[in-house]
Amino acid sequence: MSGLQRKDLLDIQSLTTEEILLICNSAKYFKALFTRSIKTVPILRGKTVCLLFYEPSTRTRISFELAAKRLSADLINIAVQTSSVVKGESLIDTVHTLEAYKADFIVMRHAASLAPHFLSRNIKSSVINAGDGNHAHPTQALLDAYSLMEKVGDIQGLHIGIVGDILHSRVARSDIEIFKRLGAKVSLIGPPTLVPDEFRMYGVDIYYEFDEILPNLDVINMLRIQRERQQGSFFPSIREYHKRFALTNDRLKRCKKDVIVMHPGPINRGIEIDDDVADSAHSIINEQVTNGVAVRMAIFYLLAGGTPLDEKEVE
Ligand code: CP
Repeated sequence: MSGLQRKDLLDIQSLTTEEILLICNSAKYFKALFTRSIKTVPILRGKTVCLLFYEPSTRTRISFELAAKRLSADLINIAVQTSSVVKGESLIDTVHTLEAYKADFIVMRHAASLAPHFLSRNIKSSVINAGDGNHAHPTQALLDAYSLMEKVGDIQGLHIGIVGDILHSRVARSDIEIFKRLGAKVSLIGPPTLVPDEFRMYGVDIYYEFDEILPNLDVINMLRIQRERQQGSFFPSIREYHKRFALTNDRLKRCKKDVIVMHPGPINRGIEIDDDVADSAHSIINEQVTNGVAVRMAIFYLLAGGTPLDEKEVE
């Protein structure tokens, strides 16, 4: 039985808090490999990982690819735009083809919410959700939690603000769940059109004025305006949005002196965050990217049957 006691990793809701902590703790050991001259270990030798991305990605795709390679897996990287999907092949037929190649893991990003859940019910391979519609992005939430723990030790009691396009954000939904599960207070900040009242059911506070809550926050997680998912106008103009909700240098000066700034990427510099802030000493955006590889190595390891690494080094 795997350290995770499950075949798939589909969302944060289905993980126990112990499993979340197990993944984060295991990631610490994989991250230690990054400073060695030889960064690969044979943990997934003989196993096959397939990356199946129906939506664009830079960070998630590259970090899953690097994680699989560092664990010595064979890798199939499907570019959907140049595959038989464009000839009309269905999701299930594409996936049965991959199953015929004996893929042990399928890492999937899809524009439709719950597509990975559908896949997991129809295939023996382990399915890892790399982002589905506006529903969930569990590996991003795990790397966000890990990055915060690495910085401050314990998330319990932190006040975390998530700012921006909450409505269209799978990252926000997964981050709310993981941060609250680990004992943080979570506030959502943005215009009412992008932070609907229904989000209160997740046990969060909502603020429509960033400046009102700014000085109270320990962590500010800035989100991108997802114009590709927006139909209609959610705010008067980019200029107006920047004025009210961007994390500018001026706003950073009014934050706690040790505030932590996060962003899952891709960043729209000059829209939701200014250059100076994204590149400031408060920002852990680059660490989030690096940690994405370690966390995804830990997920592969634990789904493949790995046991807790507390007492032993990765060999
Ligand atoms: N954070 C994130 O999911 O980035 P990508 O879309 O580049 O994978």
